[in-house]
Amino acid sequence: MKLAVWDPDEPFRRWRDALAQHAGELRLSVEVIDAASEPDEQADFALVWKPPAQWLAGQQGLRAVFNLGAGVDSLLPLMRVHAPDVPLLRLEDAGMGRQMADYVAEAVLHAYRRMDDYAALQTQGTWEPLVLAPRTGFGIGFLGLGHMGLAAARRVQAMEFPLLACTRSGTPRAGADFPGPIYGIDRLYEFLAQCRVLVLLLPLTPDTHGLLDYAALSQLPRGAHVVNAARGALLRSADLLDLLDEQHLGGATLDVFESEPLPPDDPLWSHPRVRVTPHVAAQTLVGPAAAQVMRKIAAIERGESPGGVVDPRLGY
Ligand code: GLV
Repeated sequence: MKLAVWDPDEPFRRWRDALAQHAGELRLSVEVIDAASEPDEQADFALVWKPPAQWLAGQQGLRAVFNLGAGVDSLLPLMRVHAPDVPLLRLEDAGMGRQMADYVAEAVLHAYRRMDDYAALQTQGTWEPLVLAPRTGFGIGFLGLGHMGLAAARRVQAMEFPLLACTRSGTPRAGADFPGPIYGIDRLYEFLAQCRVLVLLLPLTPDTHGLLDYAALSQLPRGAHVVNAARGALLRSADLLDLLDEQHLGGATLDVFESEPLPPDDPLWSHPRVRVTPHVAAQTLVGPAAAQVMRKIAAIERGESPGGVVDPRLGY
């Protein structure tokens, strides 16, 4: 079978070698094609990150497309037009959960230990011990509880903070337990009111675009910290900046932006209460991702349906 890879972020040979290794272990015979250099080759399966529409439109025999990341918001609209009947699968953790847990844990401790306040005191050369909030009342709220949200929540639970979550349905994924209340999205404001740190790890869909606007963000308790490691367009950054300047919000740790790279003149870069990272919270790891994709292809070959199939109606 032929596998086409389109990934502008990785040298093709890394994917080819990893896929060939895992195919060998599963006794599958595969030919791996570099879609960027052989765009006309027809493939049975595609592994892609932000492929050109034209390439997708030219593929006639695809049996499944694997998104080389967790979020399918940029690929799904292309699939709807150019490959509406082909199943789309996203990566399920594949080594990203641990990275996301690291990122969120750092932000939670940064907020809890008032590191932005100490940074401000340091600029004035002021030696002043600050009071810590009681940990038991320092709720860490997860908006979105998929693979990334759950991995991060488990780490924060081990750090002994109280947790809460808000999801579309108000229930965890089948088989996943979450040690705290889970609100349905219809109770978003009630949820936000209890988050000392709000962690955004939900998919970007037409329903969630701009969800965190001024009205929503102002439900957060005074001094709250916002972490966005999902997609920039979930959050209206002008509203976030207003609430930071009004000192309603305490700070933000942002890994994702509506426009990436974040434009040089964006005020987020220089705000003293905003920390910017360049979309690195959880990066795709070639080895674990190739292993997962090959296992799923093997399952498809056996006539089974693997996990991680995107529901186009829900958008994730
Ligand atoms: C990264 O943003 C991903 O969706 O995996």
